[in-house]
Amino acid sequence: MTLTTQEIMQLAPVIPVMVIDRAEDAVPLANALVNGGLKVLEITLRTAAALESIRLIKEAVPDAVVGAGTIINVGNLFDSLQAGAEFIVTPGTTTAIVDASVEAGVPLLPGVNTPSEAMTLLERGFDCLKFFPAEAAGGVPMLKAMGGPLPQLRFCPTGGVTPANAASYLSLPNVSCVGGSWMAPADLVRAGNWAEIERLAAEAASLGGKS
Ligand code: 3PG
Repeated sequence: MTLTTQEIMQLAPVIPVMVIDRAEDAVPLANALVNGGLKVLEITLRTAAALESIRLIKEAVPDAVVGAGTIINVGNLFDSLQAGAEFIVTPGTTTAIVDASVEAGVPLLPGVNTPSEAMTLLERGFDCLKFFPAEAAGGVPMLKAMGGPLPQLRFCPTGGVTPANAASYLSLPNVSCVGGSWMAPADLVRAGNWAEIERLAAEAASLGGKS
């Protein structure tokens, strides 16, 4: 069953943004995050190991909902779908990517950071959006301000979200979840410290869900 973007955003308060350098780290990393309570995963297409990592996690971690991030063109989108990605995340939005996602019937979490971009997507029927780069683009005050004229939108702020500010974002009525990389930092992944990653994931999961 295909989930909607809204349903995916409601599965966990935090979506880990994962940069995987070595494909052999993919499954233990995904297991640590899922065991910690974060089952929605975004694997970014920033490394040579990304597509293989999506494939491996899809195969070996059935409880994970596996997304592909850093999708910046239609080729990335189709490569990710072929690897098994169940949803697509973009830093910004192009018409070509929106068209391709609609045609493929894959849930899209499209990146925006202005009211105009948000309205363009709303016209296409998208009301669940990534707010990126969240801190640099105005953070909590910007999202509060967007909630005035555009209360029907739901956001996943990503970029500069940390354990220190995640709760402030999640307290906003127009924020369904946040994205962040802090629970899967490169040094812990390189060291294979899955226990610490699971602990950080559990801490993030305890930030609480949103409806
Ligand atoms: C990114 O661009 O890597 C994501 O938005 C995550 O950002 P972060 O590392 O600030 O959490």
